[in-house]
Amino acid sequence: MSLRHKKILLGITGSISAYKAAYLCRLFVKDGAEVQVVMTEMAKEFISPLTLSTLSGHPVLEQTHDSRSGAWTNHVALGLWADAFVVAPASLNTMGKMAHGIADNLLTTIYYAAKCPVFIAPAMDVDMFEHQTNKDNVAILQKNNCHFIEPGTGELASGLTGKGRLAAPEDIVKALQTYFKKKLKLKGKTFIVTAGPTYEKIDPVRYVGNFSSGKMGFAIAEHLAENGAQIMLITGPTAQETQHENIKRIDITSAEEMYNACINHFPDSDGAVMAAAVADYAPAASEEIKLKRHSDAIKLELSPTKDIAAKLGEIKTGNQMLVGFALETHDEIANAKKKLKQKNLDFIVLNSLNDKGSGFNVDTNKISIVKKSGKIDTFKLKNKHDVAKDIVNTMIEFIKAS
Ligand code: CTP
Repeated sequence: MSLRHKKILLGITGSISAYKAAYLCRLFVKDGAEVQVVMTEMAKEFISPLTLSTLSGHPVLEQTHDSRSGAWTNHVALGLWADAFVVAPASLNTMGKMAHGIADNLLTTIYYAAKCPVFIAPAMDVDMFEHQTNKDNVAILQKNNCHFIEPGTGELASGLTGKGRLAAPEDIVKALQTYFKKKLKLKGKTFIVTAGPTYEKIDPVRYVGNFSSGKMGFAIAEHLAENGAQIMLITGPTAQETQHENIKRIDITSAEEMYNACINHFPDSDGAVMAAAVADYAPAASEEIKLKRHSDAIKLELSPTKDIAAKLGEIKTGNQMLVGFALETHDEIANAKKKLKQKNLDFIVLNSLNDKGSGFNVDTNKISIVKKSGKIDTFKLKNKHDVAKDIVNTMIEFIKAS
């Protein structure tokens, strides 16, 4: 289990071990996480924000507001953005504030706004760590669902020996990995995901195709896999790649090949997400030798391909889920609802080519999810990984509710 695509807020407080937070930040980033660092005033005495902004790739946040422009840092949005808030090192002072309702800096303000799990890795001198006040604070924070990453025992910067040394950065990373592994909501489930375009052969050198890049389908496959599901990714020709160990990739070229692969694997799956842009028509007959150029116009006869989603909708059992896509240019909601019904889908992801930033070959997408219950959820323009997360979360809700 890696931290790929996880959004981590790393809070650094004033402790000599703050220098280890730089290595921790590096380990998070190396493991695939996106890291936003928040530092207290005291933390900056121990380590430079420049180090952390360079390692995380984002400017370090320090103040609740910018005193020159008057702009404030949206602690609520940050608390909602994060998948985990990690305070490492956590000083006695900051833990005290977190236990007793004191929000006098950005880090503690975010703590009180955070909706995500909070991890605390304390670091302080042994006498401070053993102090009854600290023990009481730890008990309060544990009662408030904070996860503690125990400090190590050994020689401390003060020269004393005892408990209080910041846990090894590797162990902090492991604590998060273990936490997220336990939370895998789709463990034991298997899904088919279709992705990319299909190419329909005209002759040995030409085809009928479309502009689909495969990005959306690959992002969905990855998020499902990151939630513990096993994925059969059936993809048309694409430059996309995936390394996730839970994803088995089947490369196909034509709509007919995609149909056969889907029909083969669907009965053993818990459902399918049909993100591919399958050609609706294919040349009625493909030529074995290259068509030669003539001065006359030529006509290409096209026959309809099989509708894969509709076929899966026909054979799906009560325990299987089917998710479709609709890319529309007009009457979007009405068309999406029609497809939802015709293909017996559980929900359909609608994107309109009228929305800027949506559609093929871009990194962003703006979707609405139309459910068979009639409910429609509309989302903001997001990058395709965040869109995939919204789609996967809707699938998880659907499974929970059924
Ligand atoms: N789909 C499919 N097999 C096809 C065509 C489409 O599985 N031969 C799936 C797509 O992957 C998508 C959904 O059906 O999940 C809707 O695809 P779309 O092309 O929008 O709809 P069509 O039914 O082809 O209708 P139209 O092109 O006329 O809008």
